[in-house]
Amino acid sequence: MVIRGTVTGGRVLLFALFLSSPTAIMLVVLAGAGRLDVWPAIGTWVMVTSLLLPLVRSHLGELSGLANWVRTLAHGGDIATAPAKDGMALAEIAAAVAALRRLWQHRSAELAETARWNASLLENLPDPLLLLDSSRRVVRANRAATRLFGRDPAGGDLAAVLRDPQVTEAVQAVLSGAAPSRECEFSQAIPVERTFAARIDRLDGQPAFEAAIALLTLHELTAIRAMERMRADFVANASHELRTPLAALSGFIETLQGPARDDEEAREKFLGIMAEQSGRMSRLVADLLSLSRIELDEHSAPSEAVDLARLATSAAEALRPLASPRGMDLEVTLADGLPPVTGQSDQLAQLLQNLMENAVKYGNDGTTVEVSVTLAGDLPAGAGAALRAGPVVKLAVKDHGEGIAAEHLPRLTERFYRVDTARSRKMGGTGLGLAIVKHIVSHHRGLLAIDSRPGEGSTFTVWLPAAPA
Ligand SMILES: Nc1ncnc2c1ncn2[C@@H]1O[C@H](COP(=O)(O)OP(=O)(O)OP(=O)(O)O)[C@@H](O)[C@H]1O
Ligand SMILES: [Mg+2]
Repeated sequence: MVIRGTVTGGRVLLFALFLSSPTAIMLVVLAGAGRLDVWPAIGTWVMVTSLLLPLVRSHLGELSGLANWVRTLAHGGDIATAPAKDGMALAEIAAAVAALRRLWQHRSAELAETARWNASLLENLPDPLLLLDSSRRVVRANRAATRLFGRDPAGGDLAAVLRDPQVTEAVQAVLSGAAPSRECEFSQAIPVERTFAARIDRLDGQPAFEAAIALLTLHELTAIRAMERMRADFVANASHELRTPLAALSGFIETLQGPARDDEEAREKFLGIMAEQSGRMSRLVADLLSLSRIELDEHSAPSEAVDLARLATSAAEALRPLASPRGMDLEVTLADGLPPVTGQSDQLAQLLQNLMENAVKYGNDGTTVEVSVTLAGDLPAGAGAALRAGPVVKLAVKDHGEGIAAEHLPRLTERFYRVDTARSRKMGGTGLGLAIVKHIVSHHRGLLAIDSRPGEGSTFTVWLPAAPA
């Protein structure tokens, strides 16, 4: 298509006169030298000028068309409407402008893509992020921030969603330019107590996005603080559990070295207590070691095929000497054709021993502890992917003891948690048995459930994935 611009006659004449000026000068020189008469010279000049007129009109028209097309492109027009291709120079200019336009379009598409990518990055970062302008207005908040505050805080003052005085002070310091960045920690009490680290940074360069000049990042510390508390509690509990028998041992040693030195009867009695206390200390150390070993390989899934039925039978045999003196029995029921489970046999033996020992320890005299190993039918709600992937073996240890009140059930698997601490200690318990069970079950990608009725007894059930056939 040929686009020609409109050009005024005056401009065309002016250009033609301009172009014919060298000819006019030459004619004036020839006339001056007497080589040419005046009238033929004027006639020649008029003729040259009039010959130039259509040429000038056409070129000026094309140039004006080119200018119009470039203007159209600047306003988002289409390259396809390029002007005349008949003038070589103009065609080259048009081609160069078209190439420039294509490059510009490509770069704008790239920029738009980068902007979309950045926006999506900001949106999907797991930590809550807020962009603030100089008046503390939230210019933009990502998805995590919207989730944290329960609504999108964009457009409002930061204080509408975050009122902590330390955060406000830090934000003010950065917005006013007093500091390039600030960090602080704050807690939110509602709906549940959560702790966050807040960091506010002034953004470099000119404010680009709706005058945002600072970025506020929140990072949740609740889990880390809880872990720190747990670690401190654990060290305190473990030291306390070790100190108690140690204090008893030192007391008896002193007595035996002093007042009871020659008392045969007291010596026998105290040595018996000392043996019991040192046994408790070594059980505690052994339990702590096994707990930390299980925790260490909790992330690598076990791979042996273990015959759980056989392990249950031998665990019951090993506990009979503890049960018989109290008139108790252990009854093991095994389903036919049970598949092996995917596991680590020494850990599963420890799991069985801990559960059956509790059932005997906390069961009533003269009752029977019922142990069953069967193929699981329906799985409980909390079953994970490993259990849902194939057949599952179910172990249940049921006792007829005093049972456990509901408020204790969620905490039973915590280290050192006991319903009746004095009683557990008297029985030689360390309070680590069920914590070990919980870790073994989770290492085996299984599930543990505790059902108990005070006055009737308790059932501890474990689901474990069967080994592939
Ligand atoms: N079958 C049960 N019936 C009633 N209470 C139980 C039963 N099993 C566990 N408990 C309660 O749970 C607490 C924690 O059990 P856990 O096995 O972890 O520790 P423990 O038996 O006291 O000591 P140990 O480390 O020697 O096993 C026990 O102190 C007891 O109060
Ligand atoms: Mg126990």
